[in-house]
Amino acid sequence: MKRIFSGIQPTGEIHLGNYVGAIRNWVYLMEEYDCVFCVVDYHAITVEYPVQEFKKRIIETALILLACGLSPEKANIMVQSHVQEHTELAWIFNSVTPIGEVERMTQFKDKSKQHRSNINMGLMGYPVLQAADILLYKAGYVPVGEDQVQHIELSREIARKFNSRFGAIFPEPQPILSGAPKILGVDGESKMSKTLNNYIGIMEEESAVWEKLRTAVTDVNRVRRKDPGNPEICNIYTIHRAFSENDTLLTIDHGCRSADIGCIDCKKMLFENVRAELNPIREKAFALQKDTDYIIDVLKQGASACSKIAKETMAEVRNVLGLLIP
Ligand code: TRP
Repeated sequence: MKRIFSGIQPTGEIHLGNYVGAIRNWVYLMEEYDCVFCVVDYHAITVEYPVQEFKKRIIETALILLACGLSPEKANIMVQSHVQEHTELAWIFNSVTPIGEVERMTQFKDKSKQHRSNINMGLMGYPVLQAADILLYKAGYVPVGEDQVQHIELSREIARKFNSRFGAIFPEPQPILSGAPKILGVDGESKMSKTLNNYIGIMEEESAVWEKLRTAVTDVNRVRRKDPGNPEICNIYTIHRAFSENDTLLTIDHGCRSADIGCIDCKKMLFENVRAELNPIREKAFALQKDTDYIIDVLKQGASACSKIAKETMAEVRNVLGLLIP
């Protein structure tokens, strides 16, 4: 069976962007592929983070994956640091990765701007560790949001460089894009993100979700209620595309362009659909919160299955590197 790997950072809160761009797609893919879904804690330490809260965030992230519908019977769900070969392979990949390639990564440039006082080696090596995550399991497919495609391309290059220097061990992984539209934050300007505080968290109270939607930026040229709007440049319409059926989309498209529907009406319809999709997830999450032992068990089971694969790959890697096997 074809193997998939994907990862998510334990940033503490999972938002609509993560859900639509990645997790929702993982739930479908899990039915057809051999999947590893990973909470990438070692990626998260490349920027400042609250150490005291880290454990909680890791568990919470796994919990949300389960609440969204990932099943430990159908996929391996694990924590990156539980399988130590991830970092071991990353070190080896450091030696085949040109510095120029990592320096030109958009995410590295962005994060270097956001964290000027802490531009560390981990931040730069971030996509190298990501390549190790994927290739440790020889995964050929990586379902991610569009912003990660550049990193997957680098993973391909790392695989190619390794293979040509040491022997053909690794596949060249391809991204799988969800096909869902790219959701911006409620500012209607930047990608939805925790750091920019423009996000709608999937665990947020209904009232908070509505408040964020109510005040979210729409088509900025539509100033008065009677002004016709343009759905093509409206982020609320984009979010509708991820949550609403085609007939609703058509109604809104026409209503917005003819000013028959105001932004608030449009947002109310969106809120209903978001709520309908998120409510069962939140309910499941609340139930799981009472059963942390179960989550720990799922992660143990995931790590144990993944360790087996990781050990096999690393045996091959050590062999082709010409290391002395103890
Ligand atoms: N960099 C990814 C993100 O920020 C997370 C990630 C880490 C990942 N390792 C991965 C995604 C491997 C796919 C495959 O979303």
